[in-house]
Amino acid sequence: MTDPEAALGLLVQHALAEEFGGEFAAADPLIRPSGFADYQSNVAMSLARRLGRPPREVADLIAKGLDGASAVQTAEVSGPGFINITLRDSWLAEQANGQLADSRMGVATAGQRQRVVVDYSGPNVAKELHAGHLRPTVVGDAIVRVLEYLGHDVTRAAHLGDWGTPFGMLIEHARDVGEQATYDQLAAGDFTAFYQAARAKFETDPAFADRSRRRLVELQAGEPQSMQLWRLLVDDSMAYLRTLYARLGITLTDADMAPESFYHPMLADVNAELEERGLAVISDGALCTFPPGFTGRDGRPLPLMLRKSDGGYGYDTTDLAAIRYRLRDLGATRLIYVVGSEQHQHLEMVFETARQAGWLTGGASAEHAVIGLMTGPGGQRLKTRSGEQVKLADLIDEAVERAGKVIADRYDDPQQRSQIAEAVGIGALKYGDLSVARASSYVLDFNQLLGLTGNTGPYLQYAAARIRSIFQRADLDPARVTGPIQLGTPAERALALQLLGFGRAVSDTAATAEPHKLAGYLFDVASAFTTFYEQCPVLTAEGETRVSRLALCALTLRVLTTGLSLLGIPVPDRM
Ligand code: ARG
Repeated sequence: MTDPEAALGLLVQHALAEEFGGEFAAADPLIRPSGFADYQSNVAMSLARRLGRPPREVADLIAKGLDGASAVQTAEVSGPGFINITLRDSWLAEQANGQLADSRMGVATAGQRQRVVVDYSGPNVAKELHAGHLRPTVVGDAIVRVLEYLGHDVTRAAHLGDWGTPFGMLIEHARDVGEQATYDQLAAGDFTAFYQAARAKFETDPAFADRSRRRLVELQAGEPQSMQLWRLLVDDSMAYLRTLYARLGITLTDADMAPESFYHPMLADVNAELEERGLAVISDGALCTFPPGFTGRDGRPLPLMLRKSDGGYGYDTTDLAAIRYRLRDLGATRLIYVVGSEQHQHLEMVFETARQAGWLTGGASAEHAVIGLMTGPGGQRLKTRSGEQVKLADLIDEAVERAGKVIADRYDDPQQRSQIAEAVGIGALKYGDLSVARASSYVLDFNQLLGLTGNTGPYLQYAAARIRSIFQRADLDPARVTGPIQLGTPAERALALQLLGFGRAVSDTAATAEPHKLAGYLFDVASAFTTFYEQCPVLTAEGETRVSRLALCALTLRVLTTGLSLLGIPVPDRM
């Protein structure tokens, strides 16, 4: 099968080459969806000047060239030189049957397999995930799933904050409380209370603060008892993260943790290399690098801090070690950092330094997949009544509880109800996040997220569940439906045309690391299906029409379930 947009692009390029010469064979054919036909090409307007001819005349010639192509029903010029193109039904049906027979439904594996590192979620040891972690976690996981489906070699990397100043204080507090009591408190996931107790002592008790500082030095020197208590904190955090990730359907495992401590042994060498390359200077007693192009409000160049004046290393150095490791040791050719917008400048400075150091060369790319804020109704970060960040676990609980109320009257069996509420609540929360352009901020609104109509998780889950129930009533296995698909009515045709865009939607999503493109596509598919299902009886149709409509249902189901699984959205069997 061929993606219609790609097929038309080739036809337009062919017509251009025939009419105006081979040098136009590679021009961008500027194919866009059209309100007047299936697609339009805007290429005539863009080439008119170069050809020295009026755009309408150019458009006429291209349209004539398209006439007679087996894919094209009509090609008509309108306005200043748009070419409106309608595809031939028989051609579309042929492509749809090809897609039905293709186990990947037209999603080609990437021509060039890349080694991609995706840095996402950004968890920290001894801290619970809060509402702000939802987006970098959910969006990152969708990006990873899409890249893997395209055949790329993907390394997940959660840049786990497990090193640095707070650990002196946390370990000292764990010693005071006792190992068993620490374990019991943390295994229950109550990191916030533990952290706050340590912090409070640190701020009010100078002797404790002193002990904490000494403890930090011992920890960083690898002293065994400090290390053992540190391990306890890390292990408890990992147990907590595993449970939360599993519930959210996030594919991160222990092996995907790229903790800050992992890079610790590399930091001195990274600094030495930057010094050798003349990129590091001493400024106010600290070792710094000043990547060009970054200045503060006062116009002065901004530093990345390589070594503090007290000899310690921080976040900046760790990120430099991480990028060097990913490029040089892992051999990655694409790095994607799925991190909040507030770290944009930091990451751009890290990328620039990696370029200057010769680690990030033309063969590789680094991109910040910017994540905007999810806010409460007032446009502020979500806070509890007592002013703390809302815990991610509480947010999930609330989504599931509300989902239970939305679906409550449909199920008598409490176990089934709670299973479906879990899938619907989590699906709604994740989809709500994924359907918004990741760099935009949005207001969390459970009523909207849980709506059964509109661009929501439940609407898409419901569309899939409805198709499953058609096959149940027909006592047919949708996986065994072979068609053929024939396109009779406009609604059938419109659905087929949507379905054929699946491969393009997936590859666009991978190219830009923007899952909302796939989400928007799936919503369009579900909408086209809804119209089809309202206008075209399936089970009561007869003969070839019934066969064809069942095949369209089966293909829609496969595109929806595959697409939703690429976004990490669960699809309940029933709804
Ligand atoms: N743990 C960090 C934080 O809490 C986020 C890590 C983002 N990734 C990175 N490579 N810096 O802010």
